[in-house]
Amino acid sequence: MMLGIDTSCDETSIAIVDSQTRTAVVNFISSQVNLHAQFGGVVPELASRGHAENLGVIFQQALKAAQVCPEDLIGVAVTTSPGLMGCLLVGTSFAKALSSRFKKPLYAINHLEAHLFSPFLGTLPEFPFLGLVVSGGHTAFYHVQSFDEITLLGQTVDDAAGETYDKTAKMMGLGYPGGPIIDEMAQNGDDSTFAFTVPKVKMGEQYLSFSGIKTAVNHHLKSLKKRDTKIDQDLCASLQNIIVKTLIEKTAYFFKKNSYRSIALSGGVAMNSLLRKKITEFCEREKVNCAMASHEFCTDNGAMVGYLALFRKPLKNLENLETRPTQKIQARQLYNRT
Ligand code: KG4
Ligand code: ZN
Repeated sequence: MMLGIDTSCDETSIAIVDSQTRTAVVNFISSQVNLHAQFGGVVPELASRGHAENLGVIFQQALKAAQVCPEDLIGVAVTTSPGLMGCLLVGTSFAKALSSRFKKPLYAINHLEAHLFSPFLGTLPEFPFLGLVVSGGHTAFYHVQSFDEITLLGQTVDDAAGETYDKTAKMMGLGYPGGPIIDEMAQNGDDSTFAFTVPKVKMGEQYLSFSGIKTAVNHHLKSLKKRDTKIDQDLCASLQNIIVKTLIEKTAYFFKKNSYRSIALSGGVAMNSLLRKKITEFCEREKVNCAMASHEFCTDNGAMVGYLALFRKPLKNLENLETRPTQKIQARQLYNRT
């Protein structure tokens, strides 16, 4: 049994992953959405305090539900980067203390890499795969050759897809988090009502941009003489359509550059109904395996952290545990190297 801990943002999560079946025996998530909803976004200081209050309780509940004691664990895995600094520190301090007290190996896991492999929980990936991490903080494409060879192909140069959902929902006064609300409203809307175009990025074709979409929504809102539910539904449908179109076009672009065994979709926005439909259709058309994180493992969770640790090496020394809020990596043009 591997313990997986994630406290990178606004979800306190502890999971226990069976190393034989590679499935999550328990995956406890305490969401702080209600705490932050009144502010329209995550307040870092409140988030870290929330983690500090919840983590110990959730840990005890997880052990009880899985009927294991700390001695049964084969290791402790924790997200160390990227994330909110104070939040990461709560999780890593807790993991370090557990590892030291019960003499268990400690695994430092990158949050984005954990998302990347989350579609394969309970099974094994077939390499190489094209991975999409589409979340509230990141929108990135990766070439994944093995559990340790991961190349960033391209990413957004400004807002993430989830951030675009959240910010436009806030502009429209729909609430937080915006993704599920817009997804729901879009179901009854006409996506051809409002015109949006897929943004071009000067930096290169491997990049994406979403901030222009946000500005376009703002313009549409200002030009509207009246607002009602039907108009909002049409705006949500048009917005959802352009976000998904942008993601699918980039998927097609990277897919053509290499030969892949699977396309793997992960992150909070992977819950989106239209994105799931369009990725499925794309995979069927291209005759490639479609791996999508199940809903439970799309948003932040400890299971994906514990799963990845099964294939990684532990830290040699507890003092080597480093927390970093962001990671500075430049997209590499993998296909130009040969
Ligand atoms: O992966 P996640 O929990 O947090 C980060 O690591 O960033 O993703 C949260 C994001 C939020 O922006 C939320 O609006 C979005 O996922 N999201 C969705 C849907 N459900 C959640 N976006 C679009 N459609 C959804 N159904
Ligand atoms: Zn995440």
